[in-house]
Amino acid sequence: MHGLKDRIVLVAGAATGLGAASARRLAGDGARVVVGDLNREGAEETAAGIRAEGGEAVAVEFDISDDASVERLVSAAAQTYGGLDAVHVNAGDMDSVRRDSDVVDIDLAVWDRTVAVNLRGHMLVSRHAVPALLARGGGAIVYTSSIASFTGEPKRPAYAVTKAGINALARHVASRWGKEGIRANAVTPGLILTREIEEGASPEMLKAMLTRTRSTRHGRAEDIAGMVSYLLSDEGAWINGQVVNVDGGTFLR
Ligand SMILES: NC(=O)c1ccc[n+]([C@@H]2O[C@H](COP(=O)([O-])OP(=O)(O)OC[C@H]3O[C@@H](n4cnc5c(N)ncnc54)[C@H](O)[C@@H]3O)[C@@H](O)[C@H]2O)c1
Repeated sequence: MHGLKDRIVLVAGAATGLGAASARRLAGDGARVVVGDLNREGAEETAAGIRAEGGEAVAVEFDISDDASVERLVSAAAQTYGGLDAVHVNAGDMDSVRRDSDVVDIDLAVWDRTVAVNLRGHMLVSRHAVPALLARGGGAIVYTSSIASFTGEPKRPAYAVTKAGINALARHVASRWGKEGIRANAVTPGLILTREIEEGASPEMLKAMLTRTRSTRHGRAEDIAGMVSYLLSDEGAWINGQVVNVDGGTFLR
C-alpha cells in the first residue's frame, strides 16, 4: 500500500486473529509495527513472525482497560521507533461475547468488562495516541467495530452497544482533529473465520452464516487487514469519519 513505508504503526490487540493479520499486512507494506496485546506470548509470536519475514516489529504487553498501561504502550512506540504515525485499535474481549445474553439476563460483570475493553479501552488508546500523532503533524486511526453495531440482534447487547459506540468514537475523533491532520475511521467486519471461530463453529452454523453473505466464501482476517492498511495509508488520505463495511455483502447499505 502506498505511503506506509517506514511509518510507525501501533496495532492494539494483535496477538491473534484480525489484529495479528493486520500487523503482518502493515509490516509487509513497509511499516514498523508495535504489536500490543494482553497476551504477551501471542504478541511476541506475531512480532517474531514479522521479523522472520524481514519486517520490523516489537511486542509490548498491555491491558487496554487500564489507562496507565495504554499510556505505556503508546510511549513504547516513541521509545522504540521515535514516534507514532498510525494506529489500529482492535482489541476485543471475545470471552465476554460468549456470555453476552440479553439485557434482562446478562451478568453485569460481563456488561462492564465488555464496555471496559471494547469501548472505554478504544477511547483510552485514542486519548493517548492523538497527542502522539499530532506531535508528528497528524496521522490515522482505524478502529475494529462490527456489523453488529447496526444489524440488531436478540442477543449480544453489550457487544453491539460497544461496537456502535466505536463508530461514534471514530466520528468524534475525525470531527475534533480532522483539521489538524488526523483521520479516524471504523471497519465493520462480518463473520471472519479466525482459527478460534472455525474450531468452535459447527458445519451447519458455518453454512447458515455463508447464506447471509453475497459471496462465495467466508471472510478471512486478511480481508480486514487489507482495508485497515488502505485506510491507514496515504491511499485513504481523503477518507475520514467513515464506518466501512467489509462483510462479503452481508449487510447492504
Ligand atoms: N472474528 C470475527 O468474526 C469478527 C467480526 C466482527 C468484529 N470482530 C472484532 O475484531 C476484533 C478482533 O477479534 P478476533 O476475532 O480477531 O478475536 P481475537 O480474540 O483473536 O482478537 C482479540 C485480541 O484482543 C486481545 N485482547 C483482549 N482483551 C484485551 C485487553 N484487555 N488488552 C489488550 N488486548 C486484549 C486478545 O488477546 C486478542 O489478541 C475484535 O474487536 C472483534 O470484536 C471480529
